[in-house]
This record gives sequence, C-alpha cells and structure tokens, in this order.
Amino acid sequence: MSAVPRVVRIVEVGPRDGLQNEAKIVPTGKKAEFISLLAAAGLKDIEIASFVHPKWVPQLADARELIEQLEPNPNVRYSALVPNMKGLERAIETGIRRIAVFTAASETFNRKNINMGVQESIDVFRPVVDRALKEGMSVRGYVSTCFVCPYEGPVAKEKVAAIVSLLFDLGLDEVSIGDTIGAASPRDVESTCGHLLRLFAVDKLAMHFHDTYGMAIANVYQSLQMGFKIFDSSAGGLGGCPYAPGASGNVATEDLLYLLDRLGIETGVSLQLLRRASHFIGAELGRDLPSRVLKTS
Ligand code: HMG
Ligand code: MG
Repeated sequence: MSAVPRVVRIVEVGPRDGLQNEAKIVPTGKKAEFISLLAAAGLKDIEIASFVHPKWVPQLADARELIEQLEPNPNVRYSALVPNMKGLERAIETGIRRIAVFTAASETFNRKNINMGVQESIDVFRPVVDRALKEGMSVRGYVSTCFVCPYEGPVAKEKVAAIVSLLFDLGLDEVSIGDTIGAASPRDVESTCGHLLRLFAVDKLAMHFHDTYGMAIANVYQSLQMGFKIFDSSAGGLGGCPYAPGASGNVATEDLLYLLDRLGIETGVSLQLLRRASHFIGAELGRDLPSRVLKTS
C-alpha cells in the first residue's frame, strides 16, 4: 500500500460536470467569471465545457463562445469533453489544448450517455485521440460507472481494469475513475482501486466521486490511504450526469480542500477564494449549493 501523498492535484470539474445538470442556463459571461474566480483561487486544472451534441446537454452549447471569453492564464490548464470526431473538430477550432474522452464500464449506461457500446466508443476514440495528439493536445479519459451502474447494478473490477487499459493503449496521459451515481463505499474503493493499482501507475489515475449517498469524502479518504493523488471535484458540490438517474453532485471542492488542508496535504488552492467562486455561481443559479464547508463562514 502506498503512502498518503504530501501533494494532491485537484481537477475542478464544476463548470462542466457541475453546470451540465443545471436546468437554468447560465449566461456565457457569467460562466467565464466563475472560471476566472476558480483560477484566482489557485485551481490549475479546470474542465470548462463539453463539445457534445448541444441538444443532449443544452447548458454547455456555448463552449466555443465561452472559450473565446476566457482570459489566457499560463498557470491554468483548461480542458473540455469530446465524445467523437465532430466534437474534436469543434474543440480544435477554439484552440483548447486539453480534451477528455469518456466511456463507461457498463454497456447500458454508455448507450444511454453517448449512444455507443463500450468497444464501439473505444473504436470511435482511436482516430480522435490520434488526431488530438498530432495537434499537440493532451488527452484525459473518463470511465463512468466503475462501481455501480444505475441500470446494471454492481460492476466487476476486472471490467473496469479492461476499459482503463484500452484507454491507456490509445495514448491518454490520465484516466479518471468515476463513481457516476455516488453509490460506492470505501470498501468498494479498496477493492476496485486496489485492483487498478496492481496494474496501473497511481499518478495516472484520478478519482471522481459523486456524493449521492454522502460517501464521497469517505471515499476520498480511503483513496488517500491507498496513495491516490489526483481528485476531481466541483465547486460547491454542483453536478451530476443527466443520463444517470438519481446521480447528485461531485464531491464539493471546498469539502475536499478542508479535508486535505486538515491532513496537511498541499494543493495550492485557497479555501477563502474558492468560497467566492462557489457563492458567485450559487447566486447565479439562485440556490444553496450542497457543500457542507460552504455553509460555514
Ligand atoms: P448521436 O445522436 O448518436 O450522434 O449522439 P451521431 O453521430 O449519430 O450524429 C447525429 C447528429 O449529431 C449529426 O448531425 C452529427 O453531426 C451531430 P446531423 O447530420 O443529424 O445534422 N453530432 C454532433 N454535433 C455537435 N457536437 C458533436 C456531435 N456529434 C454528432 N460532438 C453523441 C452521440 C455522443 C454526440 C451524444 O450522445 C452526446 O452528445 N452525448 C453526450 C452526453 C453527455 O454529455 N453526458 C454527460 C457527460 S459524461 C459524465 O457526466 C460522466 C463523467 O462526469 C464521469 C462520471 O461521473 O462517471 C465524465
Ligand atoms: Mg461526473
């Protein structure tokens, strides 16, 4: 078992995973302001948009306009989801330097989410990743439903490992392990992620926990004990997947940060400045966000 890390990299997914599930359309300028507040808080990896079909996720239909409005910031790496070649072509036009392809460990979820089988999605990604790498972009990957599928139930760790392996074979530099419906417990993390650690380098795997059952922070803590050091989270705990019934937000970046700060683990992120970003987007959406830490002063 690896040692608890001294430094953790947070991948802020609020502007993408967070907003994709919100019915109230946030104006593009407000999204840009939210992202610049996140960057000001010290977040260096921010997933800002998706180049998916605008009808499937209307909130993120303005990806191009949003990227045009972002202030260039050499300290921040922006990324966006890309499901296919059409999405990559749209991404290239904006000049974004990092993309993420996404698939799942369960067939039914993948069909509902991207209208493709799992192997089919890998076949679709192959030329997408080749072209992105040739364009000098870097590519991340996501595997959804790594623990439980909302349609098929518990997912075998061997299945997860097989998909992760196919993604790394395409040339990705990092794969994010998704608990899409927030149903995993620390024991599931120990089992599935323990299996992954026997096969893949810990610094190439990110953990992506949703918080439906209030297990996300417990799962982060479990992952830290196993040596994981890249965590996806979303400001205020915004989030969810529109194609995963019952899925709630990601682990809140504030809650993650509070835990990491208390454990003496460095992130380079300011909790005080992060609160500003979350209050800003909460006010824009007109609702209280689920983060526990955000509710304290
Ligand atoms: P499809 O309908 O099968 O697409 O959708 P198609 O290839 O058959 O094409 C149909 C039409 O869509 C064509 O237009 C294409 O040009 C167009 P037409 O010829 O009919 O005029 N089209 C596109 N337009 C714009 N951008 C594109 C694009 N692709 C095709 N990229 C598709 C397939 C993948 C596009 C669709 O299913 C889709 O957009 N799905 C996205 C769903 C989504 O965004 N889900 C949420 C993100 S995943 C998530 O949240 C999980 C994660 O957080 C990890 C976790 O928590 O587990 C990452
Ligand atoms: Mg997610």
